[in-house]
Amino acid sequence: MPEKPVKLWDLPVRICHWAFVLLIPALWWTAENNEMGWHMRLGLSLLVLVVFRVLWGFFGSSTARFGSFVKGPRAVAAYLRSLRGRHEPAAGHNAAGGWSVLALLSAMLLQIAMGLFAGDPCDGATGPLNELVGVMTADWLTDWHHNFFWVLVALIAVHIAAIIFYLAVMRENLVGAMITGHRPLPAGKTGMEPVPVWRAILCLAASMAFGGWIWVGAPPF
Ligand code: HEM
Repeated sequence: MPEKPVKLWDLPVRICHWAFVLLIPALWWTAENNEMGWHMRLGLSLLVLVVFRVLWGFFGSSTARFGSFVKGPRAVAAYLRSLRGRHEPAAGHNAAGGWSVLALLSAMLLQIAMGLFAGDPCDGATGPLNELVGVMTADWLTDWHHNFFWVLVALIAVHIAAIIFYLAVMRENLVGAMITGHRPLPAGKTGMEPVPVWRAILCLAASMAFGGWIWVGAPPF
């Protein structure tokens, strides 16, 4: 079947994705090197981006929407079986990949949420919501903020292993599309349906307002 380039990913999805790739190692580095001012600024940036991506999953272009790629267990099983035979490339996230997107976004949100409450006011930096919880709870969340990072690393490792599997075994380069937005697909496959730019502006404004509210301690809580 002849192939033609089809638009798959809009700019917001691609910017968010490559910002995650830069921010997560930077957050690890700043924590390891006790650059807590930067750790918190970068953490807040990640919060704004993940919240934006979640909003974009409801209001964004067709391939960004959760409704287009979060499928039930039957669809996932059927997709996984299809990998063994003749395989139709997906015009978006496939049924299995959709769950990995949800897992990555949820793990990032959980990691950020724990960081907001982490720290000890008598001993170093604290997250902007630290005062809202008792010392014991903050200690517990700080431990989990440390340990859960490795769960996030494990999910990222599985994600990258899947990308390498597609490249090496299925001969499908998924990375090119996450950079350019386009991917060659069999003629007849339709790509992304865009939405007006003002939706992205509103989603960004809402996620920045949320980030600002968290940064100042989430008043009036
Ligand atoms: C910090 C590490 C990473 C995180 C947190 C991450 C997270 C994500 C997320 C959330 C998505 C879904 C995109 C969306 O719909 O918004 C995604 C997709 C994708 N990621 Fe990553 N990613 C990471 C690293 C990488 C790296 C290093 C590569 C390439 C070598 C990569 C390649 C891709 C590709 C190709 C897709 C699209 C998959 C598809 O076609 O369904 N990712 N990633």
